Amino acid sequence: MRVLVLGGTAEASALAAKLAERTDIDAILSLAGRTANPRPSPLPRRIGGFGGAEGLVRWLTEHQTDAVVDATHPFAAMMSRNAAAACRRLGLPLLGLRRPPWRAEPGDRWIEVTTIADAVPAVGPAPRRVFLTIGRLELARFTTAPQHFYLVRSIEPIGDALPTPRVKTLLARGPFDEASERALLESEHIDIIVTKNSGGLATYAKIAGARALRLPVVVVARPEKPAVAQVESVAAALEWIDSQQRVPLLRGV
Ligand SMILES: NC(=O)c1ccc[n+]([C@@H]2O[C@H](COP(=O)([O-])OP(=O)(O)OC[C@H]3O[C@@H](n4cnc5c(N)ncnc54)[C@H](OP(=O)(O)O)[C@@H]3O)[C@@H](O)[C@H]2O)c1
Repeated sequence: MRVLVLGGTAEASALAAKLAERTDIDAILSLAGRTANPRPSPLPRRIGGFGGAEGLVRWLTEHQTDAVVDATHPFAAMMSRNAAAACRRLGLPLLGLRRPPWRAEPGDRWIEVTTIADAVPAVGPAPRRVFLTIGRLELARFTTAPQHFYLVRSIEPIGDALPTPRVKTLLARGPFDEASERALLESEHIDIIVTKNSGGLATYAKIAGARALRLPVVVVARPEKPAVAQVESVAAALEWIDSQQRVPLLRGV
């Protein structure tokens, strides 16, 4: 059975590690190519876009793929839409491996917004020390608020993505723990955090740290993803793959 895993997340890497142990499944991990040094993969890997839904249809056909697992990040909506369209076109089974969103807990001071663009005014007009953990691709939105100091954490260097006067960058890849996140928030005198509602444990420590320090957090809601079969865990994704493997056998009976 040939499975394409659309990756770029810790869950995709964990699923890849499990699939690499299986001799009955021929799986390949696909990455967009956003990071120069992706984590090593135990599975064969392909890197780069497919060329939209059309390109993905071609790729899936050429590689005689039997099933697709979309384990992309909750904010990678375009890839998920393309996967849904391509699988629908080819009649291929598609599973979304999707981690649940974070939910506000007592003590949290969340300001929930719908888009990154809405996060900018949510920080407020007065100059503040802002911890930006939204990746680097949408940093430019904050150029309209040059009055703030920004501490930007990202995996890749941000280059000139945020050309405002007071920017400090931190290159780091999760997981992060609460004690170091609290220490960072305190040592940088952070007033407010801006984050996407990524869900998962790897980057949750800043949310817990903010709660402990009573700091406000601007939380950007997730974009909509297509309604496809979905699970929340790697174990459940493996069960689904196995169930797909049984389908052709049953058909043959
Ligand atoms: N957005 C985030 O906050 C975030 C955070 C952590 C990790 N990531 C990971 O980074 C990647 C890019 O995220 P994004 O938000 O830019 O995605 P996106 O907006 O949904 O995708 C933009 C384009 O990038 C290509 N692409 C995305 N994921 C791909 C994959 N796994 N394999 C091959 N091509 C892929 C596709 O190009 P074509 O149309 O040419 O096929 C897609 O149309 C994703 O794999 C995602 O899992 C994203």
